[in-house]
Amino acid sequence: MPIVDIHTHIYPPTYMDLLRSRTTVPYVRTFPDAPDSSRLIILPGEDDPSAPSTSRGRPIGPEYFDIKQKIAFMDQHKIDKSVISLANPWLDFLPEDEAGEAARKINDDVNALCAEYPGRLYAFGTLPLSANTETIVKEVERLKGLKYMRGVIMGTSGLGKGLDDANLDPMYAALEKHSQIIFLHPHYGLPAEVYGPRGSEYGHVLPLALGFPLETTIAVCRMLLSGVWDRFKGLNVLLAHSGGTLPFLAGRLESCVKHDGHLKKAGKTENRRDVWDILKTNIYLDAVIYSEVGLGAAVQASGADRLLFGTDHPFFPPLEEDAKEWHSVNANYSAISKAFEGNNGAAKDVLGNNAVRILRLEE
Ligand code: URA
Ligand code: ZN
Repeated sequence: MPIVDIHTHIYPPTYMDLLRSRTTVPYVRTFPDAPDSSRLIILPGEDDPSAPSTSRGRPIGPEYFDIKQKIAFMDQHKIDKSVISLANPWLDFLPEDEAGEAARKINDDVNALCAEYPGRLYAFGTLPLSANTETIVKEVERLKGLKYMRGVIMGTSGLGKGLDDANLDPMYAALEKHSQIIFLHPHYGLPAEVYGPRGSEYGHVLPLALGFPLETTIAVCRMLLSGVWDRFKGLNVLLAHSGGTLPFLAGRLESCVKHDGHLKKAGKTENRRDVWDILKTNIYLDAVIYSEVGLGAAVQASGADRLLFGTDHPFFPPLEEDAKEWHSVNANYSAISKAFEGNNGAAKDVLGNNAVRILRLEE
């Protein structure tokens, strides 16, 4: 049985060059007080000039861009195959006239990295979402010709107005037509005010533990409410972090729809695909939730045949300098064995068989 990691990131050489050339978020740079250590500054709010440079962003080493380190990490954690994806914030920030070419170069780069390790590496491509829809659709079509590509990773911003924007329909149509899955991943979190005036005392905990999953939850609910899956019944989306909080909140979402007088009057509560249908037909969930409690909700919502193991490497490394094994990875392994105690078949499906089947990793 193969173990497959479908949530694992890389910043390929072209993207690193781009980050190093920039001086506003997102960027990579060194600071005068630590000239030998580069820092990756990508999240909104990580760039506060009043904070000491060593608390801005995170140190970035070769584990973020050297494919040999990805393979070493896979070997260390008994991972046979990985479906690598560009990490956030993808190409969201690029000017319209640069995005198309950047996407082509980066996708070619990532495909070439996969070719160095045939059978071990596959990838999700990235789309030039700040360009026009024609350029985006062209890249979807071009990705079909890249041997190791198995779908696309994207954030929640769409063309700038979110994923419920009707102008995205040509992209959804192209992805559906070419059977390319969207790996939907957060980046922007929630507005900093919700964390309160003491938010910065709690490090990355509130934005990453709560902001990220809530961002995903809101984005996917907006897709659902705007009827994306009523128009594109075959569009498949893999949700990061076990769907944010969607499995837990799906019942409440449905109930709110059924009790909304405005939607009823507009005829929008009838003849619609409900969240439970979409969770079991169009949505896949990763198993990056670090506990059997969250996994249990994911299994009940979508089924063990739609749940896929992931690590989020190279994020969340162990803080001890000499540690070889990653606690974050072991927490996900242990959650799967606890959630599927006595059902070895389902555990193996989540660890790898589902990914091989859904993402055609034997081709
Ligand atoms: N932090 C990020 O910015 N991205 C991830 O994927 C995980 C943590
Ligand atoms: Zn991630």
